[in-house]
Amino acid sequence: MSEKSDVQQKLELSELVSLCKRRGFIFQSSELYGGLNSCWDYGPLGVELKRRVKDIWWRDTVQFRNDVVGIDASILMHPRVWEASGHVESFHDPMVDCKECKGRFRADHLEGDKCPECGGELTEPRDFNLMFKTHVGAVADDASAVYLRPETAQAIFVDFEQVMTCSRLRIPCGIAQIGKSFRNEVTTRYFIFRSREFEQMELEFFVAPDDEERWFEYWLDQRLNWYTSSLGIKKGSLRLRPHEKTELAHYAKGCSDVEFLFPFGWSELEGIANRTNFDLSQHAKFSGKKIEYFDDLSGQKFVPSVIESSAGVDRTILTILMDAYDVEPERTVLRFHPDVAPIQVAVFPLMKKPELVEVATKLEKDLRKQFRTFYDVTGNIGRRYRRQDEIGTPYCVTIDYDSLNDHSATLRDRDSMKQKRVSFDQMIAAIGEAQSNPDFWSQSQ
Ligand code: GAP
Repeated sequence: MSEKSDVQQKLELSELVSLCKRRGFIFQSSELYGGLNSCWDYGPLGVELKRRVKDIWWRDTVQFRNDVVGIDASILMHPRVWEASGHVESFHDPMVDCKECKGRFRADHLEGDKCPECGGELTEPRDFNLMFKTHVGAVADDASAVYLRPETAQAIFVDFEQVMTCSRLRIPCGIAQIGKSFRNEVTTRYFIFRSREFEQMELEFFVAPDDEERWFEYWLDQRLNWYTSSLGIKKGSLRLRPHEKTELAHYAKGCSDVEFLFPFGWSELEGIANRTNFDLSQHAKFSGKKIEYFDDLSGQKFVPSVIESSAGVDRTILTILMDAYDVEPERTVLRFHPDVAPIQVAVFPLMKKPELVEVATKLEKDLRKQFRTFYDVTGNIGRRYRRQDEIGTPYCVTIDYDSLNDHSATLRDRDSMKQKRVSFDQMIAAIGEAQSNPDFWSQSQ
């Protein structure tokens, strides 16, 4: 639990938003034209952070397991997919309009029956489908209508048989995908927490129907731990919250959310759901094709059940940023885990003198083979350290005049600001040890 007050935390969110813009993590889309509400662009540091999150998820979910494979399906799919999945019928929010100010609100978010903006009278609730509709080809009629996918999961269900055949997987096994999803959300807020275009990292894990509960528990445990073990998020800021029966999506028999304590309260980061065999059965029904799995060990045929883990890339990034953000009297620090930090090592010559610049650029080139590096020669050294602290670079290496004789440089730690003298040929090993050994900075040289 956080010890900071509500006001402090909300202030932190707005400070973080301005840091993200100033330092090139994330800023509003189309700002030149006044911006497009709730659409965000990731800048040079943001795109690196995003790539790290997706790479780490892919590594842990697909590459480090022999029971999961990946796909990268197209965003536009046959429109019948969304009829089968239930999204055409059920994926909507109840909306009301104010008859006075014309404002539009989610009926289930209102406390009274008057407009929260002007007190005016509201219309009866109407269902508003969240899928973006567009058209393929030149003619914009009903026959050419398609949707931008509101989740990446459906492509996994539609491709299930194809992937099972070509990958020769056996159940229990999973198919994973990372990609953009689109929802015409009515209320978007809290920076990148809820937007209309976002990315998801989804795993659909197929199991025998009598094995659902065991795998549901397994994935709850795996996914909650992933945020601490692979991304370094503090344990106390995460929790699992089981859904009430009334909250369950139309396809789910059970669901729990991984929640993070954001400045605006505990909120969903990821959903882990038991989708039963709802999706595969629906696609079999709507396509008229049989979708079945034959288990040659038991000799049984069945429609597999699915345990889904569905995480948002952008919400994970907001979580990492919030968790890492720290303001000290003298500096602002993003205490990123070294694995996710956009830049791992910054290299500086103490002064802009040719003999120092030459050694520093050569060292940076060597370190680049192993780490994500950055070279900076401008400003005094204290200011250069502060600039790196603010973007979360865990280590800085400074070349000074002694370096020309002792072939060593000063290695500095972002969090403790402690320093050690390390020879050039030991630098890669020393940074590696600093990442893995918490006692590295307290040990004498
Ligand atoms: N396939 C299941 C599914 O899509 P969901 O709970 O609607 O389930 C899963 O979404 C995750 O996707 C959420 O936990 C969240 O991280 C992310 N997500 C959903 N809507 C979002 C939005 N409008 N903006 C940003 N992320 C969103």
